Amino acid sequence: MSDLLVLAPLTEHMRALLDADFTLHHVSDMADPQLWLDKNGAGIRYVLTDGHLGLPAAYLNTLPALELISSNGVGYDAIDTDAVVERGVLVTHTPDVLNEEVASTALLLYLSCYRNWEAQMAQARTGRWQTEGELPLAQSADGRTVGILGLGRIGMAIARKLEAFGCTICYTARARKDVGYAFYDDLVKLAHSVDALICVIPGGAATRHMVNAEVIAALGPQGVLINVGRGSVVDEAALVVALQEGHLGWAGLDVFENEPHIPHALRAHPRAILTPHIGSATVETRAAMGQLAAENLLLHKRSGRVKSPVPECASLL
Ligand code: DGY
Repeated sequence: MSDLLVLAPLTEHMRALLDADFTLHHVSDMADPQLWLDKNGAGIRYVLTDGHLGLPAAYLNTLPALELISSNGVGYDAIDTDAVVERGVLVTHTPDVLNEEVASTALLLYLSCYRNWEAQMAQARTGRWQTEGELPLAQSADGRTVGILGLGRIGMAIARKLEAFGCTICYTARARKDVGYAFYDDLVKLAHSVDALICVIPGGAATRHMVNAEVIAALGPQGVLINVGRGSVVDEAALVVALQEGHLGWAGLDVFENEPHIPHALRAHPRAILTPHIGSATVETRAAMGQLAAENLLLHKRSGRVKSPVPECASLL
């Protein structure tokens, strides 16, 4: 048995997978996690966390024998990979298994913005259809030109789904890809050229506020901004101003700068469609992610190998 420090919630299935090989130490059960770690951290070889909780530096410093951090999620910006890799510790995440689900979430937000879905549902549910009649016509989501910021695995799934709606896809990314979509090396130019911009890039210092006031202004008063990547990518204050002043048409957001806090001005705005970071939140996809997070731990314990390391670990493999 190896000692596993568990920061993230575990499903019964994950617990069953891990129980035979690991002694689980749940941070949520500890009265004082730091005190517990100061006393027992030297024995911990494995950590299970997620992309939001990461592994606080104060915890990491108590774990001299740590070999692997398995993060249950594709994004891992809460983990200081530089510091961890420098210490020779591997980090794994759960790519691919959530591509279609997060892409479907992006599509839900995209369709909801154009079709004024939240207000239409309220019109039916509250009885206002009967007492007040129909709302003004919405706009079609079909046949739009859509820009994707970050044409990675999830971005490609979004593009494929949008093609079914007759949309023309453009993108910007760190480098041009071998795909039939128009590449822009400049985000402002991309925003100028599209009806809607869908953001699906990782968080972290390099992408913080990449979607700033200038990019939002380039989308324009009819423009639609969707974010299913990380909240830090969009300058939320600039977004609120743009919505309030009518410089942006709609925002569809699944991620926010200070989750779970959402600024009141966004929550109150009728042209903001908001969901509480549910990109991958289905039974099926969370099961697949949990399976992969557990498999990384089990494989490493049994063979020293891992299934889905983050790219920053390449030098350790
Ligand atoms: C992830 O895995 O990083 C997603 O944000 C979860 O929804």
